[in-house]
Amino acid sequence: MNQNETPLLDGIEKLIETKPAYFRIPGHRMEKGVSSRWTNKVGKEIFAYDVTETPYTDDLHSPEGAIAKAQELLRDLYHADESYFLVNGTTCGNEAMILSCAVDKDKLMVARNAHKSAMMGMILSGAEPVYVMPEVLTEWGIQGGISPQAVRRTFEENPDCKALFMVSPTYYGVVSDVEEIAKVCHEYGAMLLVDEAHGGHVYFHEELPKGALQAGADMCVQSMHKVTGALTQSSVLHVNTKQPLDRERLATNLHLVQSTSPNYLLMTSLDCARYELAMHGREMQQKALDLAREARERIRRIEGFRCMGKEVEGNAAVYAVDETRLVICAKELGIGGYELEEILFEKYAVNMELADAENVLAVITYANEAEDMERLIAACEEISKAYAGKLDKIKYESAVRALPTAVQVMTPREAYFAKITEADWQQAVGKIAGEMIAPYPPGIPIVYPGERISQEIWDYLEHFRLEKRHIHGSKDGKLEEIKIIKEE
Ligand SMILES: Cc1ncc(COP(=O)(O)O)c(C=O)c1O
Repeated sequence: MNQNETPLLDGIEKLIETKPAYFRIPGHRMEKGVSSRWTNKVGKEIFAYDVTETPYTDDLHSPEGAIAKAQELLRDLYHADESYFLVNGTTCGNEAMILSCAVDKDKLMVARNAHKSAMMGMILSGAEPVYVMPEVLTEWGIQGGISPQAVRRTFEENPDCKALFMVSPTYYGVVSDVEEIAKVCHEYGAMLLVDEAHGGHVYFHEELPKGALQAGADMCVQSMHKVTGALTQSSVLHVNTKQPLDRERLATNLHLVQSTSPNYLLMTSLDCARYELAMHGREMQQKALDLAREARERIRRIEGFRCMGKEVEGNAAVYAVDETRLVICAKELGIGGYELEEILFEKYAVNMELADAENVLAVITYANEAEDMERLIAACEEISKAYAGKLDKIKYESAVRALPTAVQVMTPREAYFAKITEADWQQAVGKIAGEMIAPYPPGIPIVYPGERISQEIWDYLEHFRLEKRHIHGSKDGKLEEIKIIKEE
């Protein structure tokens, strides 16, 4: 196909050229009605592209024209059977994948480091989760990937799982052995669903890990907004399978989880991001790799700093790493990840993507510049000088721990619709959670609704509460009180 085309962008331009008397929604009438407080800052032109379904601009929920063509080009680029634009992020794609493979107490194998959207998918579908635990990368204090051996063991105990839902790469750029995992899934006649929110770019450079579709996943979802240039909320879902899949049902599920008024700015950003990847994907990724590699080497030379790289590959937790993610640790200076994030933000206006107890994470993309990297490195150098000599190793306490074991009492859906009451967090041990509890970021639930809060789980979460981390799911965001299931 001719990847040089941008059918949706062109369709909207055709519509604008007709200078229509506009009586459709949106009511701001192609820029005229947007607040001048905003347009004075950003200009008006972009708002003309915020349009709706017309013969030139097609309909996401029944595509036949510009959107159908744009999705075809995407499908062609990723060598998929089918590809879909998503306007509600990877969140809705994950929900749709789960809804399409495991419903009404069908067993779904779920990697326990999955993003909370997996849980939302299970609440919608009623699937019964069977968890497979990720490996821990102890020397960095992070969750790694899942191993084919762990997947096989879990299938041996639960051969009736309809699918495996897993994340690869993780936020930290850790890639699992998707190829071997796909073989195990297919041996058991199960679908492999990969949350590839962080991996839309890996397909475009041979020195980046293999993409999930290339490795045999049946479906995957990518947040094109995360690293490939689309606007926030813009994701895509790809299908590439020989397994039985009700494709009509998949399309219906996508209607269920997305707005009936999909935003054309988002969809156009997907069309254009696909165009850039097709035309310049390798150069874009080369730039990101060059920036990240140089920064990694320089950060490693700063006293008290470490930066994770390919040397961690090859153990059970890490099959491969995406080198464009920089996991930076200054614990040798007595600085934990949260503190480092705060210093970088407050003192140097260097914004990291996330922090955990030990590390901060920088996401490097083709759109970063050498100057960004210099600012990050210079800040690390200054911090090193300021802290070296007054090392306070005792202050730093390692929080490296495997995710606690789930004690499932009911499915996420049953728990979601059960009678709920509230409990003081201090009295929560032994109660059944009525909500997910997920320190954010990265948004990995530590407790799913319907799970009993064991002492192990409580201790694990208490660490985040004491650190005053933002906690998604807990009523107040602070974990003072939680929702629990009312037990008769
Ligand atoms: C692994 C993973 N999956 C899914 C999501 C949700 O993606 P989106 O923000 O595109 O809805 C995130 C968000 O951070 C994520 O990290």
